[in-house]
This record gives sequence, structure tokens and C-alpha cells, in this order.
Amino acid sequence: MKITVIGTGYVGLVSGACLAEMGNDVLCLDVDPHKIAILEQGGIPIHEPGLDQVVARNVAAGRLRFTTDVARSVAHGTLLFIAVGTPPDEDGSADLQYVLAAARNIGRHMTDYKVVVDKSTVPVGTADKVRAAIAEELARRQTGVRFAVVSNPEFLKEGAAVEDFMRPDRIIVGAEDEQAILLMRALYAPFQRSHDRLVVMDVRSAELTKYAANAMLATRISFMNELALLAERLGADIELVRQGIGSDPRIGFGFLYAGCGYGGSCFPKDVKALIRTASESGQELQVLRAVDSANEDQKRVLVEKITRRFGEDLSGRRFALWGLAFKPNTDDMREAPSRVLVDELILRGASVCAYDPIAMDEARRVFGPRPALSFAAQAMDALEHADALVIVTEWKEFRSPDFERIRGMLHQPVVFDGRNMFAPELLEAAGIEFHAIGRLTAAAAQRVSAAP
Ligand SMILES: NC(=O)c1ccc[n+]([C@@H]2O[C@H](COP(=O)([O-])OP(=O)(O)OC[C@H]3O[C@@H](n4cnc5c(N)ncnc54)[C@H](O)[C@@H]3O)[C@@H](O)[C@H]2O)c1
Repeated sequence: MKITVIGTGYVGLVSGACLAEMGNDVLCLDVDPHKIAILEQGGIPIHEPGLDQVVARNVAAGRLRFTTDVARSVAHGTLLFIAVGTPPDEDGSADLQYVLAAARNIGRHMTDYKVVVDKSTVPVGTADKVRAAIAEELARRQTGVRFAVVSNPEFLKEGAAVEDFMRPDRIIVGAEDEQAILLMRALYAPFQRSHDRLVVMDVRSAELTKYAANAMLATRISFMNELALLAERLGADIELVRQGIGSDPRIGFGFLYAGCGYGGSCFPKDVKALIRTASESGQELQVLRAVDSANEDQKRVLVEKITRRFGEDLSGRRFALWGLAFKPNTDDMREAPSRVLVDELILRGASVCAYDPIAMDEARRVFGPRPALSFAAQAMDALEHADALVIVTEWKEFRSPDFERIRGMLHQPVVFDGRNMFAPELLEAAGIEFHAIGRLTAAAAQRVSAAP
């Protein structure tokens, strides 16, 4: 099939490459000429495991191409995927300017039947706006070309995006146009050969499904984060509680890890956008409001633990920071809890030496030049002259470090584990003072016994 992907970011590039992998003829458009130049020179503008090979293979086979030429891109595909960003507007709603610009471009240039597929995460009712924008442009040109608008939200996870796209749990297709549904079924058939995982529904339900999924996952995280804070007060261990409840099949183990807050390009903005959509429709989503505000608080939980231990004034203190990306296996720093932590530590006079296996270039760009922030070439190098180590992202390479060496290198052997990576006994046996999120550490036990 001939496919155009509009927006060549995390979702667009992965979708385009994976669709080409199944033999489709894919043209990826982006308005960012720098991004397209990198791709045309054989580079990959983002870090996503396995993506470079899929892109290289399909470019070499002539099935995957890149362009900044809007007219050429609209002419190319019968299926036109919109995968542009939908960042939060000032009021928390999703900013649809890029989606609607893409829709207008389609209307300006299309000359035959097109299926326009919304892959971006968009509020309920956006397909109607996309349809209207295209129709308006067609009316301006006085052409009556037929088209369909389909909602096909994307559920891939950054860090495992290629795998998720190639082996989807489910494919949601919101559509009314029979021809469009047939094309979508044909397109996705190779991705679900063992059994059909494509669910066809009305467009609005499809749009809401995406938000509901992210809202549910964010809710589980905030719920566990709050329980972790309670566990600390009560002298319980959240990790044992997680295992205790996860074994119930109605609950399951997934997404029950307490930590220093969720970040990334999706959960924070999608939760806020759904709250906004709801209140605009006259309904308050009380649970989600709490999920959002609990997460904002949770991003500060490490700073609170650090100031409780070292005092509010951190002048002259130096902290080693492991992990910058909002989660492992990505270089994405959007809404990463590390951003709050670095800002807060520097604000209190501390300096930070950070290490991340992949996200340091992105972090340099995000933070800009700051005398109090430096970067280490290796994880252990970050510990030189540091008072304490703080872990924000659970990269695999941090899982089993040399604790004796950590103790030897830190001025004060203190570790703050924002992702509950380590068993308290291990560090405490190595003579390290250990602080985690809701874990029954010696430090937490001391707080409980000192409480009135
Ligand atoms: N990143 C994820 O993990 C993920 C997962 C599922 C869904 N989503 C959703 O998918 C959408 C895209 O997210 P992303 O992370 O890929 O964003 P991104 O910022 O990485 O990429 C968006 C791209 O669209 C380009 N663009 C903007 N306007 C354009 C236009 N008119 N024509 C052509 N290109 C244009 C931008 O230059 C950019 O390269 C969002 O709605 C997001 O919520 C993201």
C-alpha cells in the first residue's frame, strides 16, 4: 500500500519504518528540515532500540523515504497518517494546531480518495475538526474529492516502540467509512497473524480509548506513589505490598512501581488534556485531578528527602545523579522528573554531576549551559567529590553496581533511590545510608520510631 506519514517524530518514524517493514511503500513528511536531512543522510534523530536497523533496511529496499515536500507527500499515499505532536496548551488542553495544519495541507493538495488517519493522541471530537478543515480547503478549491477520517491511536511505548508496533496488544480503529475500514484491516493484517487484535469502533470511542488507557496507567502509578508515602509513615514496605496485591489477577503486577513520579511526552499531558476535555463538557474528573496533582508532588519527593537529610541550604554540596531520561531506553527528557530535581538542587546552592547512558546530549540541550551542572562520561565518574548519589532513571546498567566502590567514593555514603532499584539490605550491609520510595530502610524505620 502507498502510505504517507505526516510528522516524523517518535510515533511517525516508528510507524513509517514498521509499515515499510511489512512491504508498504512509505513516505515520511516532516516540517523540520533538520530532521529530514539527518534521516536522508542515514542517521536517526531519536534513540529507539532497534529502529536504526529497520529504517536502514527499508531505506535500502526503497520502501521508506523522507521529504519536506507537502504536495508530494499528499499525492503519495492513499492512507495519510497524521502523527504530529499535540503538546499541552497553557490551559492543559491539547494544542491541535499541528494536527489541523496537517489536515489543511491534505485538503489543499489531495486529488483522489484518501483515508486520513489520526494517529496523534487527540481529544474526542478532533476527527470532526480534521474533517471540517479538509472539507473547507476542498470547498475553496471547488473540488468534491471523497475522503474518510479514521482514528487509530497509537499505544507504543518509547524504549520498546518497534517491538510494540510490530506486535501490538490491540489495534484500535475508529471509523464509519466501510472502504476505510477495509483498508485499515488489510494494512494491519500482517501485524496480527496469530489472532485478530483489531477492534473497530466509532471514532469518538476510539479517541477516548487512548486517553482512558494512559489515564488508567497514570492512576496506578500515582496510587502506588501515595501508598508508598503512607508506607513510610507506617513502617511498611511498598515493595512487599506491591507483590501482595499484584498477585491478584484482577489487579496484576504491571504499573504498580512506586517512584519519583511519571514523566514523558504522554502521561502528564494526556491526563491534563482529559481533565480539560471533561470539564469543558461539564463533568469533573476528580480521580484524575488527584492523580495529576499527586504526581506533581511526587516529582519533588527526592528533593524533600535530600533536604531532610542535608538541610534546606545545599550550598557547597555536590550530588551525583544517575539517569536523566524520563524512563530507560529513551533519550526523551520531556517532563522528566530529573528536570525538577536538578532545578531544585541548583536553586538551593548545590552542584550536580549527572550521567545517563543515552540522554546526556538531550539534557545539555534542555538545561542549557549551567555552571552548577556537569556531565560524567561514566556512571562511577559522576560520584567523584559527591556527597550523595541520587538515582532517577532505572537504566539496566545501574542495577548491580559495586556498592563498596560507591561507599568509598562518596563523601558521605548516602544513596537516594528514586526508582526503588536496590534492596535496602544490600546497601545497608555495605555501610551505605539508603533512602528509597516507601521501602523499609533503616532510615525510614528510624523516622517511624522518632515520630510522636
Ligand atoms: N511518544 C510516544 O511515546 C507516543 C505514544 C503514543 C502516542 N503519542 C502521540 O503521538 C503524537 C506524536 O508524538 P511524538 O512523540 O511522535 O511527537 P514528536 O514531537 O516526536 O514528533 C512530532 C513531529 O511532527 C512534526 N510536525 C509538526 N507539524 C507538522 C506538520 N504540519 N507536517 C509535518 N510534520 C509536522 C514535528 O516537526 C515533529 O518532528 C502525539 O499526539 C503523542 O501524544 C506519542
